[in-house]
Amino acid sequence: MNATHSSAVNSRPSALVCRGCCCGSSRKHPEVDFEKQIEDLSSVARVRTLNCVNECARSNIVIVRFDRKRSFWLGEVNSDASTLALCGWIGAGGVEPPPPLLEAKIFMPDNRL
Ligand code: FES
Repeated sequence: MNATHSSAVNSRPSALVCRGCCCGSSRKHPEVDFEKQIEDLSSVARVRTLNCVNECARSNIVIVRFDRKRSFWLGEVNSDASTLALCGWIGAGGVEPPPPLLEAKIFMPDNRL
């Protein structure tokens, strides 16, 4: 891997995907293909999973970080449509405003990571 490629990879946005007690639970969200969600997000972002971030009522949580100053918490990412919209938005650099489907899911958590 050369320095240019390494830099490009490191500048990719991050998607922190909660996989705690509720997010990632097939019992709570039988409609979600969790493996595919990670796979889809991995095509546009560096994906890391987290334990519960104390926002279970909004599961499934995805935190997108475009850079050190710009991050977004999204809740109820519970469908292929919302995952694909999120992938498209991340892939487009997180242009603002986000698409309405995603804008409705963005929230400000009590305890930011
Ligand atoms: S399991 Fe995701 S917020 Fe609790």
